[in-house]
Amino acid sequence: MGSSKGDNIILVGPMGVGKTTVGRLVSGLLGREFIDTDFLIEEMTGLSIARIFSERSEAYFRSLEREVVENIKGMTNLVIAAGGGMIIPEDNYRVLHASGVLICLMASVDVIAERLKESNGRPLLHNGDKREVIKSHLESRMKAYDKIEHCIDTDSLQPESIAQNIVRIFRSRIADV
Ligand code: S3P
Repeated sequence: MGSSKGDNIILVGPMGVGKTTVGRLVSGLLGREFIDTDFLIEEMTGLSIARIFSERSEAYFRSLEREVVENIKGMTNLVIAAGGGMIIPEDNYRVLHASGVLICLMASVDVIAERLKESNGRPLLHNGDKREVIKSHLESRMKAYDKIEHCIDTDSLQPESIAQNIVRIFRSRIADV
């Protein structure tokens, strides 16, 4: 995949689009290791994401995300599910973009709200009415997500076919080099 560009597959996009589920499937299809940046942060700190937000702060969480991004610089051959806010800071975006193929999974507010109905582990969703929080996050972050070259609308797709789409995108990128 070229000498200057890494070969990771990095799934980005808002909460509730299935990055973790789909990432695991892609890793199985390609026989690659899978990492989820939230799980990594939980391992690093021994704390759940919810506790990091409540006992420390969102700013602390973002600094941990920054650390993870720096570590990804030296990693190859991975499938990575990135937390929904990870690519928002320009510096993070630049590093992730250079480390492989970025693929944005997207969904409508209604679908995300339905998928996250029972979710308790996402502290940002507790900052008001869930649907409104999801909507305002999408609006404020869309500019960053729009920069991603490959985007898959997941509203009416099953995880297995999203994973197959990703493998196709990845293979066509390799064929292009
Ligand atoms: C966040 C998304 C979450 C997690 C944290 C903050 C965000 O990850 O990193 O709760 O800022 O959108 P998922 O996208 O995996 O839910």
